[in-house]
Amino acid sequence: MKVLLADKNHPLLKTQLENLGCVCEEDDTSNKIEIEAKIKQYQGIVIRSRFDIDKQFIDKATNLKFIARVGAGLESIDVEYAKQKGIELISAPEGNRNAVGEHALGMILSLFNNLKKADLEIRNGKWLREDNRGLELEGKTIGIIGYGNMGKSFAKKLKGFDVNVICYDILDNVGDENCKQVTLNELQEKTDVLSLHTPFNELSHNMVNTKFIRNFKKQFFLINTARGSAVVTDDLVKALKTNKILGACLDVLEYEKLSFENLFENETLPKAFSYLIKSNKTVLSPHIAGWTVESKIKLAQTIVNKVEEKFFSKSLKKSKSEFTKVTGIGGLFFKTENPDMLKKWYKKHLGFNTDDWGCTFWWKDSNEKKASTQWSPFKSDTDYFSPSKKEFMFNYRVADLKKLLAQLKKEGVTNVGKIEEYDYGKFAWILDPDGNKIELWEPLDTAFLN
Ligand SMILES: NC(=O)c1ccc[n+]([C@@H]2O[C@H](COP(=O)([O-])OP(=O)(O)OC[C@H]3O[C@@H](n4cnc5c(N)ncnc54)[C@H](O)[C@@H]3O)[C@@H](O)[C@H]2O)c1
Repeated sequence: MKVLLADKNHPLLKTQLENLGCVCEEDDTSNKIEIEAKIKQYQGIVIRSRFDIDKQFIDKATNLKFIARVGAGLESIDVEYAKQKGIELISAPEGNRNAVGEHALGMILSLFNNLKKADLEIRNGKWLREDNRGLELEGKTIGIIGYGNMGKSFAKKLKGFDVNVICYDILDNVGDENCKQVTLNELQEKTDVLSLHTPFNELSHNMVNTKFIRNFKKQFFLINTARGSAVVTDDLVKALKTNKILGACLDVLEYEKLSFENLFENETLPKAFSYLIKSNKTVLSPHIAGWTVESKIKLAQTIVNKVEEKFFSKSLKKSKSEFTKVTGIGGLFFKTENPDMLKKWYKKHLGFNTDDWGCTFWWKDSNEKKASTQWSPFKSDTDYFSPSKKEFMFNYRVADLKKLLAQLKKEGVTNVGKIEEYDYGKFAWILDPDGNKIELWEPLDTAFLN
């Protein structure tokens, strides 16, 4: 597979792709037209943000199997058109999410503690303590909009600060143990510090405008490490002037170009930008939240891993009928004459954190998501295990219940009853050859956390 490396990246990217068997060619100087002219020689291209990959480019890339973006978002690529052409799209948010989480935290701590202002004052011979009295994060509510890779990373970093972390997302059920998902109204009612982590799309474009800001009940601080276009800077400045927004940490600016060119070249600065530069209520950085020594390595490694997984993995050779079935034990259920007595015994002697249902054990699955296993004693006259006559029943967690049931049906496995759906997941029951009734559960563990 011949791969064009269109930007400079960590050298491991080239070395490891070559170890996989790719022939890599580096060209980070030719312009887009020159690259378009030769792109049909390549099966893969690895790019950061040097130019857009649009329809015209894709039409010329007749042999392309993948486009890998060494970064989080894919907005510089015509994703729909590339997909239509059967081109795999690879991005690497896993590589810079930790950096973004730490940067967002660093920015707000810097603003709360006047570090930028105080540092400059000391360098100018001023020792002003009362003027630089800081604020603490403890007890504040942090509202995150967009709870994906970056939002989750920020919420994880906030653990230990004794803050209340809530999020709003256009997708349902994204909340986890670090952050409770709420409606936009609730977020606007409770937030003290708003942090944006949305990708560029129609809804996030110009999202933070005067009307949106007015809907916040309290004065608040803003952090934007997502995309500059999410905030109308004129409206932000108006809100800073009236103190509705008390301060802003901006790693991204509305005025940035996609290619991250120097903002100060050949341009008179917009008025609002001039205000931000002079204000002590702002902390600014040049789109570097995801830009660390470590993320350079992690981004490159993530791209290599994903190329390997998609094009060189042995698992590709697995038969198509193989898919992830059971992912863990979801429950241990057994009969007893006296469930309440037994729960008390397990609580006293084994420290079980019991409730009406028994005890829930929490652990992390292979995707680092919180997962639970239920331990429950049932009254001995229960018919929940029937038609099995056994004293126990196991519950297994499954990745895709409907797909698994369809496969089991083909294999002649006995099904008991119909699928049942609850806000904490889908359930179905089967019998094994020993007559044991098995409960299959496609879980939604987050429902237990809300
Ligand atoms: N400053 C930097 O250096 C830097 C680095 C990496 C990523 N980013 C930015 O962070 C963005 C998010 O990256 P990610 O990897 O977390 O993306 P992601 O796709 O993993 O998560 C984005 C989340 O936002 C939600 N969402 C989308 N539009 C929304 C809207 N209008 N309102 C509410 N929720 C919405 C999605 O449902 C998703 O859960 C990137 O697109 C990029 O713009 C910046």
